[in-house]
Amino acid sequence: ELFYRFQLLPVHGIPFMKPIADNWDRIETFQAKPDDLLIATYPKAGTTWMQEIVDSIMNAGDLKKVKRAPTHVRFPFLEICNPSPVPCGVDVLEETQSPRIIKTHLPYELIPKSFWEHECKVIYVARNAKDNAVSYYYFDLMNKTQPHPGTWEEYVGKFLKGNVPWGGWFHHVIGWWKARAKHQILYVFYEDMKEDPKREIRKVIRFLGKELSEDLLEKICQHTSFKAMKENPMANYSAMPDSVLDQSISPFMRKGEVSDWKNHFTVQQNEMFDAEYQKRMEGTDLKFRCSI
Ligand code: PPS
Repeated sequence: ELFYRFQLLPVHGIPFMKPIADNWDRIETFQAKPDDLLIATYPKAGTTWMQEIVDSIMNAGDLKKVKRAPTHVRFPFLEICNPSPVPCGVDVLEETQSPRIIKTHLPYELIPKSFWEHECKVIYVARNAKDNAVSYYYFDLMNKTQPHPGTWEEYVGKFLKGNVPWGGWFHHVIGWWKARAKHQILYVFYEDMKEDPKREIRKVIRFLGKELSEDLLEKICQHTSFKAMKENPMANYSAMPDSVLDQSISPFMRKGEVSDWKNHFTVQQNEMFDAEYQKRMEGTDLKFRCSI
């Protein structure tokens, strides 16, 4: 089998899958271009959703163009480095025409310096910790390249410790939140996107310096709804082989809701999580809504 559950190795203290750690030099020295756009997220925070929104905006709502290829082909994944058929992001990017829209899950401090030298724009999507943990748990069950999550009970502990690929949620969301002061970063919340997708899509349009009619906004809103994306083979990762993502275990477009954590956390797990959350979020003005 080409794909298997890679072990995690630390890179500057953050656990990564072995192929990423092995290729770190190439990732670190990656040369960005001024018109590169980064879509940065902690895994399972709403990356694919934002990618579909941005691509729809860049193509002014021309859905034929937006459906030209599956998500993982349209948006090179900066740090990913797996055996074929999913090549290394840095190699793919060298062959990608500008303007490039690049996916990354890297925590702020590990972003190649070149992006900041060129003052590249970044859209960061953050999702509340509990739903993010649930979504990541199901993903680690079905993603054959990442370590098996174990039981849900075991996974909650690993998630809080940051002993999962790309490290801890707290470090990630807080690091990017602080980085707003220094760079062109649009920080968007998954819960806000669910509450009022049009409002949030408008923010993205403005951030990208575009203008779109209300009709096109409506069209993009429809095209990027959970239901439409679940049914869209160019957005639902069905193009990815089962040997990488086994959607018979859990679909990539799983639920797409806020507060699904309530169906998974026991009372005790919730209390433990809340206690840790309070400690780790103390002193930050970053606020999430865990239920809307
Ligand atoms: S990845 O692998 O990190 O790129 O995954 P990512 O896309 O960040 O996260 C997947 C979760 O986002 C949900 N999703 C959506 N929710 C609402 N609306 C839309 N359009 C949408 N598209 C994707 C997806 O269902 C995963 O969340 P869960 O809670 O597991 O369903």
